Amino acid sequence: MKPILAFVAIAATMAFLASCGDSEESLAGPVQPVAGPGERVAFSSVQSTIQQKCLRCHTGYADSTNLAAAAAAAQATIEGGSMPQGDQLSQGQKANLLAWLEQAQASAPPAAPQPITNSVGRVEFSSVAPIVEAKCIICHGGYSDSAKLSASASAAQAAIEASYMPYPGPNQLTPVERITLITWLKQEQGL
Ligand code: HEC
Ligand code: HEC
Repeated sequence: MKPILAFVAIAATMAFLASCGDSEESLAGPVQPVAGPGERVAFSSVQSTIQQKCLRCHTGYADSTNLAAAAAAAQATIEGGSMPQGDQLSQGQKANLLAWLEQAQASAPPAAPQPITNSVGRVEFSSVAPIVEAKCIICHGGYSDSAKLSASASAAQAAIEASYMPYPGPNQLTPVERITLITWLKQEQGL
């Protein structure tokens, strides 16, 4: 477990214990069940907090995907005290919501690989040449010539996308190499 998550979980547990008999809780609604160390916080356990404290202004947060997408900003504004605007979270609500937001950021899917491009977003052959050199030339000597590779652009794109090329072996393309090469091959076809 990440130390910060452990801290949140411990803080959450303490907040839960401390909040028993806290009169603020009765105004803000029942104390939320707080996940123990290592437990996942289900979205259903923060839903009522979001409904009470956020939806009035951020209707989109009813959807867990939208809230997860804003998780880093939401965590920062809650920790900084600027959100919820004009209102406050009880200690239990805050600990639980922060734990969910922390978890949402940890489980965010990795960003899609991006091609190596120049300042105007185009892939230059100078970025492609070393990839082809390392991964194709051993079998296709002609591809070191950009015109020859360009002439096979459509077939090469199809072969790479189908994972037919490079041939099975140690010279597989990394995700960045793959998207860089495919993007250049598409450019050559005017796609
Ligand atoms: C009374 C209305 C209101 C409530 C309630 C409210 N917000 Fe906001 N929120 C705003 C407004 C208005 C802005 C944009 C203006 C600003 O940045 O101050 C904002 C901005 C934000 C931002 C974007 C900040 C950034 O830097 O990108 C986040 C994230 C956010 N709110 C999260 C929440 C969460 C989570 C809750 C519930 C716990 C909540 N808000 C409750 C009105 C509200
Ligand atoms: C280990 C050797 C090897 C490597 C490495 C290799 N190829 Fe091939 N490639 C072949 C062979 C052999 C064929 C012909 C196979 C066949 O026709 O079944 C072929 C066929 C092709 C074809 C023709 C496919 C078709 O539809 O007819 C293309 C295009 C191609 N390779 C592109 C590439 C590209 C681009 C790379 C580098 C990313 C690469 N190859 C890496 C051996 C290799």
